[in-house]
Amino acid sequence: MTSTTKLTITQPDDWHLHLRDGVVLKDVLGHTSRQFGRAIVMPNLRPPITTVELALQYQARILQAIKELPENSQSFVPLMTLYLTDNTKASEIAKAKEAGIVALKLYPAGATTNSDAGVTNLAKCDEVLDAMAQHNLPLLVHGEVTSAEIDLFDREAIFIEEVLHPLRMRHPQLRVVFEHITTSQAVDYVNTTDTANLGEIAATITAHHLLYNRNAIFLGGIRPHFYCLPVLKREQHRLALLNAATSDSKRFFLGTDSAPHSKHLKENECGCAGCFTAPQAVEFYAQAFDSVGKLQQLEAFASFRGPDFYGLPRNTKQITLEKTSQTIPSTYQFGEEEIVPLNAGKSLDWTFLG
Ligand code: DOR
Ligand code: ZN
Repeated sequence: MTSTTKLTITQPDDWHLHLRDGVVLKDVLGHTSRQFGRAIVMPNLRPPITTVELALQYQARILQAIKELPENSQSFVPLMTLYLTDNTKASEIAKAKEAGIVALKLYPAGATTNSDAGVTNLAKCDEVLDAMAQHNLPLLVHGEVTSAEIDLFDREAIFIEEVLHPLRMRHPQLRVVFEHITTSQAVDYVNTTDTANLGEIAATITAHHLLYNRNAIFLGGIRPHFYCLPVLKREQHRLALLNAATSDSKRFFLGTDSAPHSKHLKENECGCAGCFTAPQAVEFYAQAFDSVGKLQQLEAFASFRGPDFYGLPRNTKQITLEKTSQTIPSTYQFGEEEIVPLNAGKSLDWTFLG
């Protein structure tokens, strides 16, 4: 008799997510709320969520959409963030804390999708960053330098030296999450930081950066659905990320960076950056952990270290996955929009049961 392998863990949270807005919001949210208890919602809308007032309005739209979702999605909690700009006022920080905003997001201007309003010079933000440290609001960092002359594949490693470390030296109380890390340099930096003298640091890791290296973007032709920012890197970097995620370090936790774009905007002469992984997010992570025989570490990575870092209670519900294969749909229809998920049409070894 054959028996299937099942894995039951505390319900995970997604500490880095793009939910978008408007007509697609409910559909995008439906996928994440089926699997996750909470998610940190990125503020890179058009226009970006730069004030507490805008964040609360966005949160209200999300909560309204949740009401229309199935029963088991009703307890989903969106955790809101603000988009840091050159003009963010220090006075907004106390208001943000009071309103339950959990963090501010730093997009260096021009680094990625909807980042035009991002920070041009961090020195302009010193007062705000001090206020964040004072109110214990972490800074979530898109860690790439933006100069056109710098090789795309080097932008994260150079950001560490030129921007991130100096920033933390100037604001030694500030807590930082290095988002969607993609390189061994980022893993080493997060691992070796001495938090006796500098603020706490953690990093999120996506499922796609654990499963794929940069060859996936060019397999037999250009594959726009594997294009995201920071871009996938060499195999040695993927292995460093997998090693970090499956290690005992509390500093690495789950953040999908699931980022849907319409099919026609991905399959375009200037295709958008972003991989849509929300529908099979937990299965993708299970696949990655299973590939190195480390499924026993999945719960800590997916469900414990994130809430511990943010000072929130761990979820009490449980979810179960089964090692049976599923085929990823070729597209999802969200209103008028067609969205292609990561690895569309291919199979996955794990299936989420609920
Ligand atoms: O690939 C990405 N997509 N990286 C980001 O930083 C933004 C995101 C998006 O919003 O589409
Ligand atoms: Zn993102």
